[in-house]
Amino acid sequence: MAEILDSASGKLFRRGDEVHLWRIPIGGEEWPAEDLLLLDPGERARAARFVFARHRAPWIRARAALRRILARYVDATPETLPFQVGEWGKPSLCGSNGESLRFNLSHSGGLALLAVAWGREVGVDVERIRPTVELLDLATRFFSPSEVAALRAVDDARRERAFFACWSRKEALIKADGRGLSFGLDTFEVSLHPDHPAELLSVRGVPGGDRWMLREIPVDEGYAAALVVEGTGWHLVRREEQWR
Ligand SMILES: CC(C)(COP(=O)(O)OP(=O)(O)OC[C@H]1O[C@@H](n2cnc3c(N)ncnc32)[C@H](O)[C@@H]1OP(=O)(O)O)[C@@H](O)C(=O)NCCC(=O)NCCS
Repeated sequence: MAEILDSASGKLFRRGDEVHLWRIPIGGEEWPAEDLLLLDPGERARAARFVFARHRAPWIRARAALRRILARYVDATPETLPFQVGEWGKPSLCGSNGESLRFNLSHSGGLALLAVAWGREVGVDVERIRPTVELLDLATRFFSPSEVAALRAVDDARRERAFFACWSRKEALIKADGRGLSFGLDTFEVSLHPDHPAELLSVRGVPGGDRWMLREIPVDEGYAAALVVEGTGWHLVRREEQWR
């Protein structure tokens, strides 16, 4: 399958050996009025439940961008995209146009990433690196014993970055799988040392775990991000949604 970007319509055609990663700026406390118009009643109700505009605005922006971007792949209008959610909450598209399209969204601190692929599962996670006092306590709670040991071995100056690198890599895998936290964070291990490449070190507890590929995603300063894709024979194409 070859991809053609139709510059007249903006439509994106499918290509099975590409994984597209969209960077979407979503910061601020305001949102364009047209963004809200793209959301369905359930999404608008969810947006209304945020108490603070600084939380509501990025969520609306990210959801509207998700609709705008996915609509270009399946040749639909953003506001009519038929979403469904899996047993553990992972969204997908239904209907013949979108049933092979796989995507995953993540947002943190004013930045969203959206991974899109055809016929292979994807999971993405972005985390703003924020001062975290109980870093080793949190790691002991969520990471495997060898990940905790690896984190302790990182020098103080780089430990926070290593912690969020590990966090984003683990999240990306459980989001690719789709079972979320019911997946069991201690059933697999990832690399975390800043001098080592991002790697799935062990997936012994994960049925079919060797089908996943992990990549670190360099993003803006102050963020850690990771992508997990099913299978081999793909390459990454980075895309950008302009600030609106
Ligand atoms: C549900 C979960 C996917 C949320 O992750 P998160 O890091 O809080 O949030 P992200 O912004 O990365 O992802 C949220 C998006 O993932 C998607 N999503 C929801 N459930 C999902 C699932 N089961 N699988 C994959 N993607 C899912 C949705 O698009 C969601 O967007 P929305 O909140 O706008 O609806 C899940 O992994 C979770 O609850 N994590 C909690 C954090 C934690 O304790 N992590 C320990 C890491 S070591």
